[in-house]
Amino acid sequence: MNALPLNTGLTEIQRIQQQLVQKYDVPAPRYTSYPTVPFWDATPPTASQWFEVVERVFTESNQEKGISLYLHLPFCEALCTYCGCNTRITKNHSVEGGYIESLLQEWSLYLRHFPEKPIIRELHLGGGTPTFFSPENLKLLLDGIFAQAEIHPDHEFSFEGHPNNTTSAHLQTLFDLGFRRVSFGIQDFDPLVQLTINRVQPFENVEFVTQEARRIGYESVNFDLIYGLPYQTLTSVSDTIDKVALLMPDRIAFYSYAHVPWVKPGQRSYTHKDLPSGSEKRALYELGLQKFKELGYSDIGMDHFALPQDALYKAMENGTLHRNFMGYTTCHTELLIGLGTSSISDAKYGYLQNQKKVEDYKTAVASGELAIFKGHLHTLEDLRTKEIILNLICKGEQPIDQSLLGSLDYDSKIALVEMMEEDLLTLTDHALKVNQLGKAFVRNICMVFDQRLRQSSQANENTFSKAI
Ligand SMILES: C[S@@+](CC[C@H](N)C(=O)[O-])C[C@H]1O[C@@H](n2cnc3c(N)ncnc32)[C@H](O)[C@@H]1O
Ligand code: SF4
Repeated sequence: MNALPLNTGLTEIQRIQQQLVQKYDVPAPRYTSYPTVPFWDATPPTASQWFEVVERVFTESNQEKGISLYLHLPFCEALCTYCGCNTRITKNHSVEGGYIESLLQEWSLYLRHFPEKPIIRELHLGGGTPTFFSPENLKLLLDGIFAQAEIHPDHEFSFEGHPNNTTSAHLQTLFDLGFRRVSFGIQDFDPLVQLTINRVQPFENVEFVTQEARRIGYESVNFDLIYGLPYQTLTSVSDTIDKVALLMPDRIAFYSYAHVPWVKPGQRSYTHKDLPSGSEKRALYELGLQKFKELGYSDIGMDHFALPQDALYKAMENGTLHRNFMGYTTCHTELLIGLGTSSISDAKYGYLQNQKKVEDYKTAVASGELAIFKGHLHTLEDLRTKEIILNLICKGEQPIDQSLLGSLDYDSKIALVEMMEEDLLTLTDHALKVNQLGKAFVRNICMVFDQRLRQSSQANENTFSKAI
């Protein structure tokens, strides 16, 4: 299916990379959390256990670091068939008011447990499609959130916008409320790919919203792109990146397409044979990597790229990069509260996820209760492993001492030695470092330290999407 040949004229390095891809293209977590969701406690914490943990972290960190907030706005007007997000498809915009009411009810449940006003350092509107909501309703929501909070002087507010429905009024309203970062879902510009994924999105729309964001004063524009979508070829992805180059977003997320049709039936509208195979998909990634570098982007890690003037790049350079459920971030708060359907909160000592169905969520918060779906309270071992995985993903380096080496079983050590021989890792006298080649396999490297995964028989083909 690729327009350019993939298996001829390969250099020795490409051949080695292909072998590595074959070896490491196994189901692998994305490590937005540790433990990963399938390994959370069988029974979630009760509301009082959860609030106890939240109060503890809040007291430890609000004054010094502030808190992070994630608001999930699940509505979209049409289903993009590849989509793996938690969405509710509707064209009925009267749902906006009731949902905002629920978000504010849930926020007030938390406020009751804070001994002082929360200082909001980081805020992200995700979805679904936040720009499904009218600018007036987004202002209503945010005014309600801010009414009983302080805003950190170095706040970072961001939102996800769909290029087909983000208006100048959305951009201006959110800018006036303190937003300086926007992320647009692009995915791919090829007409056949767009038709197949039910997301027809002309370049002109993307150009308009990008230019508007810059005119209004946004400091960082991100584009989400995906490799591995149905019918993508080296030529089509190359053309997509050439179009991206005309707009030069400050950041690019170049996501590996997660094919999970057992969870997302929309993905059954095409089949495996329409998708680039493991090595073809890897070649698409390599092409992106090469083209982004030529354009001046740096590889931040886990499929993220940034221009040197972007704060994410600077955070990577000075070792302050952090990762949470919202992805890579320059803020390192200890308490992240997720409001809305399916949102996940991270209170340092544990996680809590909300109900995924809009109705279940709304019913719970309307009766004054948290809409608890899943959760986990960390053991000391979890906290230690979480730190190792964050170090590998954010800093590309994990300090090594005898106690860490002693805690690894024989198979884990063998796996690390193999990775060193494959030039994915380097072991110095005090640290384990992820090499340039290893960046693409960082999920596999983290898996070596993921003792819950290694000791479990739970993880099967359908637990995680493939690593590559
Ligand atoms: C909530 S959407 C972005 C905002 C808006 N809804 C839009 O589509 O423009 C979040 C992002 O997740 C990524 N995404 C969704 N489904 C995915 C999948 N199956 N595999 C990889 N990335 C996916 C897409 O890049 C998408 O832009
Ligand atoms: S990709 Fe965005 S717009 Fe499309 S269904 Fe998913 S969340 Fe909605």
